[in-house]
Amino acid sequence: MKAVRFHQTGGPEVLRYEDAPQPVPGTGQVRVRVAGSAFNPADGGMRGGFLPIPVTLPHVPGYDVSGTVDALGDGVEGLAVGDAVVGFLPMAADGAAAEYVVAPADALVPAPARIPLADAAGLPSVGLTAWQALFEAGRLEAGQRLLVNGAGGPVGGYAVQLAVRAGAHVIATASPRSTESVRAAGAQEIVDHTTTSLLDAVAEPVDVLLNLAPITAEAFTALAARVRDGGVVVSTTPMVATPGDEARGVRAETIFVHPDADVLRRIVDLVDSGDLRVEIAGRVPLSELPALHARAEAGQVHGKVVVVPTA
Ligand SMILES: NC(=O)c1ccc[n+]([C@@H]2O[C@H](COP(=O)([O-])OP(=O)(O)OC[C@H]3O[C@@H](n4cnc5c(N)ncnc54)[C@H](OP(=O)(O)O)[C@@H]3O)[C@@H](O)[C@H]2O)c1
Repeated sequence: MKAVRFHQTGGPEVLRYEDAPQPVPGTGQVRVRVAGSAFNPADGGMRGGFLPIPVTLPHVPGYDVSGTVDALGDGVEGLAVGDAVVGFLPMAADGAAAEYVVAPADALVPAPARIPLADAAGLPSVGLTAWQALFEAGRLEAGQRLLVNGAGGPVGGYAVQLAVRAGAHVIATASPRSTESVRAAGAQEIVDHTTTSLLDAVAEPVDVLLNLAPITAEAFTALAARVRDGGVVVSTTPMVATPGDEARGVRAETIFVHPDADVLRRIVDLVDSGDLRVEIAGRVPLSELPALHARAEAGQVHGKVVVVPTA
């Protein structure tokens, strides 16, 4: 089969579009014929060797998958050949930047029927991240005020939609390129972080601050002062420590997305009921994944890009 792999860590040039053995599902696993995989910023970190995720080389990137079940390993129940599925794959295992991938059966859930199967690859890890940040780490409730810094990206898009649906009042940042999608996601207040100081724009305290943006420790600490006593600061960006304030009872939570098929199933249901929009910024053939990594490294990728095997 065709796959993109890296045999050593490094820049985008270490990625090779090449022939690789078709994987065979073991006990509790299924093989998926890939319809789409997603590009995530962490793919660049893993390829570069910056993330503490122990991959075996050569490694196939792409831990988000959508596709069709193609073969069953021993002991698999509840899935059949031909089922359309979506999943967040174990990050250290070979991923879905290939024609086929092997996945733990319990990582897969039925794909949303409302959107093209390939596009559904853009949902799992970012949808789970948004959900876990808001409702597990943030314990967000109806009526609370939420500030999302960095809402212009894929995680932010889902976070805003899920929070609004949960009855929160959402203040979100967006540069001009993201304003329309953040507005469509339902944010009640939008702050253009390229022209306006967020500190000036958010005068009233918020219950939950969710940071998704690459900001400095100083800027993050200043923002955390806008969280009410007893509130919470949640971050998905471990490069900068998440500031809390023990004296004021402000919790600090740095999250790492974890697999959760039950929550993923609920997220898929929201897509199918029309309550959650999946926004795909672009679709590229598998052979162009190395070029996509190079564009991402140059800061030229905005929004969720899905990678599609073409053979
Ligand atoms: N910890 C985890 O498990 C986990 C899981 C998933 C993602 N992540 C991380 O979470 C972050 C968000 O994910 P993503 O996929 O949505 O990333 P992304 O595509 O990089 O989106 C982040 C958005 O932040 C906005 N931004 C950039 N600089 C900003 C600034 N100075 N102030 C305010 N906003 C700014 C940009 O939108 P505009 O400029 O258009 O406003 C950008 O699109 C990334 O760092 C990603 O690596 C972590």
